[in-house]
Amino acid sequence: MIKEVKNNHLFWDGCDTVELAKTYGTPLYVISETAVVNECQAFQQSFIQKYENVRVAYASKAFNTLAMLKIIEREGLCLDVVSGGELFTAIKADFPAEHIEFNGNNKSIEELEMAIDYGVGRIIVDGIQEIELIRAICRQKDTTANILFRITPEVNVSTHEFISTGQKDSKFGIPLDEEILFPVIQQAIDAPEINFYGIHFHIGSQLSDNSTHLAAARVALGLILEINQRFDYTVKELNYGGGFGVTYTKDDIRQPYSYFLDPLMALTESFCREHGLTRPAIVIEPGRSVVAEAGISLHTIGAIKDLPGIRKYASIDGGMTDNIRPGLYQAQYEGILANKAEETATETVTISGKACESTDILVKDIQVPTIESGDIFATFATGAYGYAMASNYNKLPIPAVVLVKEGQADVIVARQSYEQIIQNERIPDTLK
Ligand code: LLP
Repeated sequence: MIKEVKNNHLFWDGCDTVELAKTYGTPLYVISETAVVNECQAFQQSFIQKYENVRVAYASKAFNTLAMLKIIEREGLCLDVVSGGELFTAIKADFPAEHIEFNGNNKSIEELEMAIDYGVGRIIVDGIQEIELIRAICRQKDTTANILFRITPEVNVSTHEFISTGQKDSKFGIPLDEEILFPVIQQAIDAPEINFYGIHFHIGSQLSDNSTHLAAARVALGLILEINQRFDYTVKELNYGGGFGVTYTKDDIRQPYSYFLDPLMALTESFCREHGLTRPAIVIEPGRSVVAEAGISLHTIGAIKDLPGIRKYASIDGGMTDNIRPGLYQAQYEGILANKAEETATETVTISGKACESTDILVKDIQVPTIESGDIFATFATGAYGYAMASNYNKLPIPAVVLVKEGQADVIVARQSYEQIIQNERIPDTLK
């Protein structure tokens, strides 16, 4: 049990969260190692060990820290990075280069050089300019790169529009336009510096319906057949992206991985059999589902404002700076008072952040026991895209992250200090 209630306190992977708040301060992210491992094992059972020639590359944008990458490697997953910074963290964590894939719609020359020097296993190429850059870098370094092309499969998914990526009008991927796509594929097949592996798509995030993954897979499979016919080239790999939804609130339906993966594999295998193609390696790139529900955030309640007949606000010592998702995507969360975990709800309050922004509301109208300053509010399912998207708005320090496992707690990211916030600032002589 990751989540338990004992002595009126919320426990997370064996640790008393009220004690964690006291020891490490708030705001605090708490990540259960057990829960992350359980997700990795779920992918092992439902995919890696079930099918041959498949891989799971954890989309580290969801939560990329040295310790997290160590867990991912130990649990047998590969890694997806999308920037020099994520790659740098992977290098510092000694993540095996051949198990890293590099995504992104605007990789810089420096980032591509870094990836090629480290020898990443795959570069997912997002456009025509990028392939030219990769070729030039490889020629200069007398090396080769293994690439896939990210395509835009023209599939509209059912999720918040800000996290949809597979629709026709998208900054991501290469459009399904014969005159754009086939010359670039031809180039990849012919170029001596390029090992052309295959096709990638990612259609969106927080999905609970498998039909859009299947629709996009049909597009990708149609394309590999066409590549086979036009160029007499056997595509070696297909990457079906991530996007598997998690439970933030009771309204979210979390599907088991098999709900997405079994039909995807059945479709892929039957398509290949029917058309006499060798089934390519299949890769998926989950981020959120690996870590979202493993994480909680702890905040201390400060100012309480009761507007009679309107609303009662209870403010926390963080907010949009450590969880931008409500402000950005109207994301909904659930939480409890960690120090009053067994008490019955008596009132409705709105948990608001401390940033100077009206949208900085963490949870609107939540039922809680009688709330007081000093209470600890725990928000569930903040492990993905929480710390990863934290900012210094209002010069609030980025909170610490604690990894917990069966009652043991370790700081994996120290709290940022005020000194660190201003460490890169300079006063020009003219102002001294
Ligand atoms: N692969 C690619 C190429 C992606 O762009 C993404 C997510 C993933 C994999 C992983 O998707 P996931 O399994 O985590 O859904 N900040 C937003 C989510 C943005 C996702 C962007 N790309 C949020 O907080 O909801």
